[in-house]
Amino acid sequence: MADKKRIFATSRIGDPAENRLRERGYELEVFQGPEAPPKKLIIEKLKSGVDALITTLRDPIDAEIFEAGKGTLRVVAQIAVGFDNINRADANKYQVPFTNTADVLTEATAEFAFLMLGMLARKMYASERLVREQKWPSWHPFLPFLGDEVTGKTIAVIGTGRIGLAMIKKCSGFDMNILCYDPAYHNDNYVAAIQELMDLRHAREIQKEKTWIKYVEFEEALRGADYVSIHVPLLREGETDKPTYHVINEKTLKLMKPTAYLVNSSRGPVVDEKALAQALKDKVIAGAALDVFEKEPLPADSPLLDPEIADRTRLFHHFASGGQITRLSVDPDKGMAGRTAQAVIDVLEANYGGDPTKMPYVVNKEAFTKPASP
Ligand code: GLV
Repeated sequence: MADKKRIFATSRIGDPAENRLRERGYELEVFQGPEAPPKKLIIEKLKSGVDALITTLRDPIDAEIFEAGKGTLRVVAQIAVGFDNINRADANKYQVPFTNTADVLTEATAEFAFLMLGMLARKMYASERLVREQKWPSWHPFLPFLGDEVTGKTIAVIGTGRIGLAMIKKCSGFDMNILCYDPAYHNDNYVAAIQELMDLRHAREIQKEKTWIKYVEFEEALRGADYVSIHVPLLREGETDKPTYHVINEKTLKLMKPTAYLVNSSRGPVVDEKALAQALKDKVIAGAALDVFEKEPLPADSPLLDPEIADRTRLFHHFASGGQITRLSVDPDKGMAGRTAQAVIDVLEANYGGDPTKMPYVVNKEAFTKPASP
């Protein structure tokens, strides 16, 4: 069919969602990866007349891209909740809606953050290595090492958007006290509901100790916590009055307790990795678990790979949302791939009356809001 709409995906998004798009009559071309395609190739494809572009967080999407797609490109659908790789001002200037996959990865990401926290603090990796390498001499009350408990400890949740709130929910189930910080918005209702749950659990003897949750300032959160878990988006200078770039740095790491652990499942550049590696070396903090890095994949010369800090540093391959259903389900209410496909369909098939401000997965709605008539 000559007028078949064309979609270019910079990565595979799995058979179910790809098939859904093809079955609906779209001509879907997929870069087979596994690495990201060169920007040059994306530009070439756009110039050849593409209606929708499916992107991952590895693709820099900016004015050059939108210029190449001018006249034909109608939507950029990102398979991720974060979109710091997409220049929002450029998308708005070219009037191209872009979409993300918020909601469907909330629980999986918070779950992973919590599990890596536990893995780090209870030294599970070191324990398994001991067994595998036949270096476990005999059971002993404290040799060769002990871990730190999670139950009953205090966590600082930095960023109380969807994933931060899900993290709070999981931590409350582990009888933790919770310090909340958010640079932009306080969800007081959620926090009050969690406190009610904590009180009920205590009153009904489900948990022994009383626990609490409250919003505090950033420094107080860092000072008071046994665990600090980061859930803010990456915002650089000029994008906001409260940038999150390198908010965890030499100075702020020193506010944390020497026994405290840092967990990051948000974006790598929120943490100054050089400062973190040094802090781990100097035992300024006890350990860190990281799923995201300033540069991905992590370069071989990263200070985080220093063998001297390997016992207190757990590193993962940007894997927090990497559950089967979360990544690949074709159901837009369950899977990132399904939501991405639906986002493309919404725009190309003019669902919601063709109004991007009414489309649930469009991020930059402000670009399509008509100014109120005088
Ligand atoms: C993953 O990091 C995402 O933003 O979805």
